[in-house]
Amino acid sequence: MEKAQEEKTLIIMKPDAIQRSLFGEILQRFERKGLKIIGVKMAKISDVLIEEHYSHLTEKPFFNTLKNYMQSSPVVLIALAGANAISATRLIVGPTKGYEADAGSIRGDYSLSGQSNLVHASDAPETAEVEIKRFFAEEELFDYQKPDYKLVYSEDHF
Ligand code: TYD
Repeated sequence: MEKAQEEKTLIIMKPDAIQRSLFGEILQRFERKGLKIIGVKMAKISDVLIEEHYSHLTEKPFFNTLKNYMQSSPVVLIALAGANAISATRLIVGPTKGYEADAGSIRGDYSLSGQSNLVHASDAPETAEVEIKRFFAEEELFDYQKPDYKLVYSEDHF
């Protein structure tokens, strides 16, 4: 069996997750999967950071509404670690458009929008690394043991 990669990924609980009181529900899905929270904080995202984070979208016609939405309330930034954490969280989150996402995914269960879709999750190892550095200082990230790893993973997992 191919060994899983230990990965870190960035999750943003977007303003609608906070405003709709879905923060706890969404966080619980990641926790229950077995992912380890290695950083968490609330912040209002600045113009500079939004433009950096969505630099692949700045030329799109929807960029201004996306920016307004992302700055409409504080967000919660979360760094998670675990086996194949990037693809695992993308599956839990679901595809961009909530109205197309499968039931059982966060967007499939709680979003009907292509923009107000509750959660950001990094999409590749290179972007995850840059995104975590963008939003977390080194001292805001924690490396610690979790006893339930022995139950979540098999002995030969890593
Ligand atoms: P993208 O990185 O393509 O998707 P994802 O969040 O699934 O990784 O787009 C970033 C965000 O931009 C997306 O979550 C919502 C917003 N967006 C729109 O508002 N309209 C659109 O047509 C697209 C593609 C994205």
